[in-house]
Amino acid sequence: MAEANSNPLGRPLPDGIVPEEIVARTEKRWLIVMLAMLAVMMAIIVITGITDAVHPSSNVEVIDPQTLHLKGEFVESNLGTAVEPDGSVTVRIIAEQYDFVPNCVRVPVDTPVKFRLTSADAIHGFLLPDTNINTMVVPGFVAEVRTRFSSVKEYQMPCHEFCGLGHQAMWAHMVVVPQEQFGNVEPVVGRTACER
Ligand code: CUA
Repeated sequence: MAEANSNPLGRPLPDGIVPEEIVARTEKRWLIVMLAMLAVMMAIIVITGITDAVHPSSNVEVIDPQTLHLKGEFVESNLGTAVEPDGSVTVRIIAEQYDFVPNCVRVPVDTPVKFRLTSADAIHGFLLPDTNINTMVVPGFVAEVRTRFSSVKEYQMPCHEFCGLGHQAMWAHMVVVPQEQFGNVEPVVGRTACER
């Protein structure tokens, strides 16, 4: 179509006027370039969406959610607060539908605390209100959060990722206790250290 009426009068074009067919060819080439860029960007989005679908919220540390209770760091006897050789404490928690295990955690005040959490099933959330501790707990990954509590206090720990029908009932507690009280809690039959 460009041929027929590109120069209807058959006169030479004035200086500086580009013939229509050249304009059309250039536009077509740029259109192809744009479509190619679009295709590349769509491919990047789709491929990364499929291969990196899960974005763990903190350190990328993987764990097999199916064998949590059988071996490794998150076996039942290893859960809760553990004192490290340097005096800091590590708190290991499993989030599962619909509770945190353990459901109540004690940590000493003015001590470096490292939380390590993972999920046995769905994506859960770990939040200590009025602090900046807030992480997703994704099955297959270990979420790690480090902090230090400067005052004795009790915290509610709600799960804040919708994880199923029992989500709204998924709560746990954390108690920050004075250092001299930490570590000398006599286990009382039928009561956890967190009950008041
Ligand atoms: Cu677990 Cu919501």
